[in-house]
Amino acid sequence: MIGKCSKILSMHEIVVCMGSSCFSRGNAKSAEIVQKFIQENNLNTDVTVRGCLCESECKNGPNIRIDGKLFSDINPDSLPLLLAHELGIEK
Ligand code: FES
Repeated sequence: MIGKCSKILSMHEIVVCMGSSCFSRGNAKSAEIVQKFIQENNLNTDVTVRGCLCESECKNGPNIRIDGKLFSDINPDSLPLLLAHELGIEK
C-alpha cells in the first residue's frame, strides 16, 4: 500500500520509503527484511507495513518510519535489531 508517509493505521506501523533515492540506496532490501521480520515474529496482526513515495529527506536516506518516528541512513544488516527495539521484541 502506498500513501501518506505519516499516517498511522494500526498498533504499530512501519513505513518504508520506496522513493527512487531510498529504494536504490537499500530500501528494496530493507522492505524484504521488514516483511521477513514480521513473519518470523508472528506480528501480522500487530504491525502494518506499507510504502510511501518520499519522506522529503532523500539526502539522509534510506529512510524508514516506525510508529511515526523517522529513522535515516538505514543499514539493512542492522535493521532487525532496530525493528526488535522499536517494536519491543526481545531478542
Ligand atoms: S526517496 Fe526516500 S526520502 Fe525521498
